[in-house]
Amino acid sequence: MQIIHEPKAMQQYVEEMRRAGRSIGLVPTMGALHEGHLSLIRRCRADNDVAVMTLFVNPKQFDRQDDLARYPRDFDRDADLARAAGADAIFHPAADEMYPSGYATYVTVEGLTNRWEGATRPGHFRGVATVCAKLFAVCRPHRAYFGQKDYQQSLVIRRLVADLNLGFEVVVLPTVREADGLALSSRNVLLSPEARRQALVLSQALVAARAAVRSGERDAEKLRGDIEARIRGVPLAVVDYVAVCDPDTLEPLTRISERAVALVAARFGAVRLIDNIGLDA
Ligand code: PAJ
Repeated sequence: MQIIHEPKAMQQYVEEMRRAGRSIGLVPTMGALHEGHLSLIRRCRADNDVAVMTLFVNPKQFDRQDDLARYPRDFDRDADLARAAGADAIFHPAADEMYPSGYATYVTVEGLTNRWEGATRPGHFRGVATVCAKLFAVCRPHRAYFGQKDYQQSLVIRRLVADLNLGFEVVVLPTVREADGLALSSRNVLLSPEARRQALVLSQALVAARAAVRSGERDAEKLRGDIEARIRGVPLAVVDYVAVCDPDTLEPLTRISERAVALVAARFGAVRLIDNIGLDA
């Protein structure tokens, strides 16, 4: 497995592969790899001739400096896990390689980013869209892999790839969970044992909502209120938002007539977690 730090060297690597007629798959990550990331790498490995993972803790998408400072980092461990999952190359640039002095170009995806994560984390999606546009330009993939765990992000990336005519396929894969249902997240290791126990309420509230829809509930505001009440019922949870919305536009729904998604974000102590579930009628 190759470990490449310089954008220019990474571009040369993928150009060489492309000239040899090999398809390139891309898995962008910020490291602290877990089974969710590894599921993307394995699928990327299976679908493409060359599997590239990027590992870059992108300062521009953190709206809080303390979150950036605390973000877990262990490159050697991540490299071992990526290799075992089948990555052929890791692109691991330094921040000043990605954003050298004088850097001035940003990508803004409008509309989709106004609500939910966009509203509670100002600048977050501008940072995500900017870094992904750069990673796409450097790695020139035929396919790129994202997790449904970050549902709004996956829509933002699809929009970006369509709007900028990037022409490659965006593949979104299901959320990988702990045995008890908690969505895997790099931030889970920061939870205290008590917060870890209470954080389970997120997936439980979402699964209860899906069960209610399956039993015929169609009142989206009732479903939203029930999810929120359940989360507020645990002492450590501070809710950022709970939404039941259209899965393409992310506009809130009053009734579920066909397709829907529920999105939640809550803080447990200093750790902020998100989750979502499909609520199709
Ligand atoms: P990161 O949080 O490291 O996630 C990298 C990819 O793994 C994202 O596509 C995310 O949705 C996916 N992922 C995370 N947890 C998952 C889970 N439990 N199951 C399945 N997939 C999961 O998302 C980012 O990094 C960054 O915003 C990035 C796109 C790399 C841009 O900096």
